[in-house]
Amino acid sequence: MKVIVTGGAGFLGSHLCDLLLTKGYDVICIDNLATGDIRNIEHIKSEKFTYIKHDVTKPIYFGDKIDYVFHLASPASPIDYLELPIQTLKVGALGTYNMLGLAKEQKARFLLASTSEAYGDPLVNPQPESYWGNVNPIGPRGVYDEAKRYAEAITMAYHRYHNVDTRIARIFNTYGPRMRAGDGRVVPNFINQALKGEDITVYGDGSQTRSFCYVSDLIDGLHRLIRSDFVEPVNIGNPDEMNVLEFAEMVIKITGSNSRLVFRDLPVDDPKVRRPDISRAKEVLGWEPAVKLCKGLEQTIEYFSDN
Ligand SMILES: NC(=O)c1ccc[n+]([C@@H]2O[C@H](COP(=O)([O-])OP(=O)(O)OC[C@H]3O[C@@H](n4cnc5c(N)ncnc54)[C@H](O)[C@@H]3O)[C@@H](O)[C@H]2O)c1
Repeated sequence: MKVIVTGGAGFLGSHLCDLLLTKGYDVICIDNLATGDIRNIEHIKSEKFTYIKHDVTKPIYFGDKIDYVFHLASPASPIDYLELPIQTLKVGALGTYNMLGLAKEQKARFLLASTSEAYGDPLVNPQPESYWGNVNPIGPRGVYDEAKRYAEAITMAYHRYHNVDTRIARIFNTYGPRMRAGDGRVVPNFINQALKGEDITVYGDGSQTRSFCYVSDLIDGLHRLIRSDFVEPVNIGNPDEMNVLEFAEMVIKITGSNSRLVFRDLPVDDPKVRRPDISRAKEVLGWEPAVKLCKGLEQTIEYFSDN
């Protein structure tokens, strides 16, 4: 089978390309390297792998039959989407529109990488897929949250009106090797500060909660979802919730660092709680995370120590 992975040179996309190649798929990775890195795919030597440098907000056509389109292209970390607000909105809107058009023309199955940010700063915890969210459309983070909400809406419209076979994954915080050290997300931030013995920056008082899914679990969830027949959104993430302070202490312990914690103002509209309800993923995909946080952190710390 031939599959397209947009955003395939990014953190999650490159791991997805790896998994698909081990499963025997022909993989076409499309990425404009806006926030990705060619080094994430340089190790791939397979003849079944093609990289195309292309911005998916512009149309692209293929002569050969495509079976699946995984649409992951989008800036994903707050630092990136605050720096690239228009590109973020464009890739969520025009990029998703173009990739749905491609899936329609090719009669391919389409999977959207959506996000827990679709729930905004949630008033319900844990968040089930039935929750419609609490998003500030005009705040700085709105560019990402609303782009993804629009992407979900156009995905459902293509399903309902053009019969495109679609899937929507609502991805919660995922971490692992190939995250960028400076991408501003809490896992690489804390690990790199701890490894360098620098102060660890905690936003707010650290009582806000997060839950962290290891990348191999997440990628397995995406692969199961595209092979399922389930069209409604599915949360994919780890339901083990902890507050940011506890997480910082865990990173200090595993790295053996003597870093101190310093506290900074909470960014605007930062979610206070974040935890997926994964009942649906368990039921329809038979999926739940397998990698314990301490194990996943060890592998991620090893990656950052070597890079
Ligand atoms: N990592 C997470 O915890 C997380 C959580 C929720 C959702 N997601 C979603 O998963 C996807 C991948 O996230 P990631 O963490 O790997 O981020 P990433 O920034 O590492 O990867 C995104 C990739 O998309 C590419 N890209 C961006 N705009 C593009 C465009 N216009 N045309 C072609 N390529 C483009 C980037 O160059 C990059 O390689 C994103 O859609 C993100 O919203 C990720």
